[in-house]
Amino acid sequence: MRIALFDSGLGGLTVLGHARRALPDEEFLFFADRDHVPYGTKTVDEVRSFVRDAFRFLVEEERAEAIVIACNTATSVSADEMRSLYDIPIVGMEPAVKKALDADRTRRVLVTGTPITVRGEKLHRLIDTYDANHLVDLLPLPRLVEFAERQEFVSPRVEEYLRTEFRPFDLSQYSAIVLGCTHFNFFKDTMRSIMPQAMTFADGNDGTVEELARRAGLKTVPEGARTARCTFFRSGRRVTGAEELARIESFISRAERMELID
Ligand code: DGL
Repeated sequence: MRIALFDSGLGGLTVLGHARRALPDEEFLFFADRDHVPYGTKTVDEVRSFVRDAFRFLVEEERAEAIVIACNTATSVSADEMRSLYDIPIVGMEPAVKKALDADRTRRVLVTGTPITVRGEKLHRLIDTYDANHLVDLLPLPRLVEFAERQEFVSPRVEEYLRTEFRPFDLSQYSAIVLGCTHFNFFKDTMRSIMPQAMTFADGNDGTVEELARRAGLKTVPEGARTARCTFFRSGRRVTGAEELARIESFISRAERMELID
């Protein structure tokens, strides 16, 4: 099956690794809408129009048979519309609020995302459903998307930004941070170094791949060395240049290293 993963930029690569290892016999397309990244600080109408164009390209030109919206922001504003337009399995991503609350019912949970996701009705409905004890706090971290796209993952600027954004919260009261943007997974090492050890990470990456398999009628295998092939696109253009492909590979290796951090 031809499965496309779509993100505003390279954040979706943090989902691609799982998907390619869990479904090594499928054929993947990865679409990073880097002409328009970041999405999270744009208007909802702009993001909807970018997502429409990306889906048109992936379904009509590249014959994708299933699409994972590996972007919480795009899911928040466009998943329902895309499902009404295309009759193929479409899997979205939502901040892992339920997972974090289920793991600890007493301490607080810090849910991070882009400004669109954090303001979005979808997230507020999710929180109303699961956060009966009012344990969730919200924190938009838009600059992490810019840092990631620039490949600036570990630097005094990144650390200072995170320290400043975390300062209003007494993190010793929190059980988890929810990574509600696929770009944020690239910063787990810096976050780990400034968060209390007792705080854990929650993301929806594994769950998204399971959901893809279920909706597409595929069977996942235990993740091993085998990995599915993948073609990369930058907005509507196929990436063929050795330098850009090497850059993507280095993002993928970083994503894999970050997966090992609890
Ligand atoms: N990676 C995206 C997400 O999961 C969006 C980042 C952006 O473009 O602002 O929300």
